[in-house]
Amino acid sequence: MLEVSTAWSTAEIYLQGAHVTHFTKRNEPPLLFLSQCSRFEHGQPIRGGIPVIFPWFGPREGLGQHGFARVKTWELKEFAPASDGSVSLRFRLPDCPEASAFQPFNVDYIVTVSDSLKLELIVTNNSKTEEFVFEDCLHTYLEISDIRAISISGLRGTRYLDKVANFAEKTELDDAIHITSETDRIYLNTPGAVDISDPRLGRKIRIEKQASLSTVLWNPWSVKAQQMPDFGTEEYERMVCVESGNVASNQIRLPPGESSRLTVVLISNPIS
Ligand code: BG6
Repeated sequence: MLEVSTAWSTAEIYLQGAHVTHFTKRNEPPLLFLSQCSRFEHGQPIRGGIPVIFPWFGPREGLGQHGFARVKTWELKEFAPASDGSVSLRFRLPDCPEASAFQPFNVDYIVTVSDSLKLELIVTNNSKTEEFVFEDCLHTYLEISDIRAISISGLRGTRYLDKVANFAEKTELDDAIHITSETDRIYLNTPGAVDISDPRLGRKIRIEKQASLSTVLWNPWSVKAQQMPDFGTEEYERMVCVESGNVASNQIRLPPGESSRLTVVLISNPIS
């Protein structure tokens, strides 16, 4: 695990999964939620922080949920403190047997720690002839005061697949979404920023993104929380996942020789 400290913030990143588990600005509560019950075991995903989901999202027959990138031990390739005080780390997904089912590819992940947290997932298709079809997602667990006290905005008017209603296709009608039960939605064609307003913490979190057409909103709520062995029964109250990526019908079809660069910036500010 790597610890990074800047003038504004601290962060922790595990080589397993290139998984950011902590990002905390000075004089602020942590930005990322991490479960007290998380396993930190080889081959098991960490519960909380930012799992890197690649090359598929969700279940896949005979294979692990959400792809293999989140359970592989990534290589640290570069560590670059910049003159503006920010620190960038670049990780590379190592070769692994699971990758042989796909076109030849490289994946780099750049984490930049400053007064915000910037994440860039760069996928390169090394094939000279075939396109590379995949899904990616930065499965961000955000720490909040209370799930009943926050609202989420930026998605009004968009279409989503409601996974708790058997993938029914719906349209988001609310300017400010309030979560009051199990929520598991894939919002499609949503390239814009999403805001979480948390008046009790006096904080607004902005999730800015580029090259991401999907936004996943997830909270397991109480019943599902009890079924998850690596998650506390009441922890659903203190977290919400707002995930940025390209999944389902937004999957990426990368032409030979090209790269995609999913970029997410997490910014927090006091609510005035
Ligand atoms: C979300 C999915 O992204 O991740 C949910 O939409 C899933 O369906 C959740 O339950 C957690 O997945 P996992 O594999 O980390 O338990």
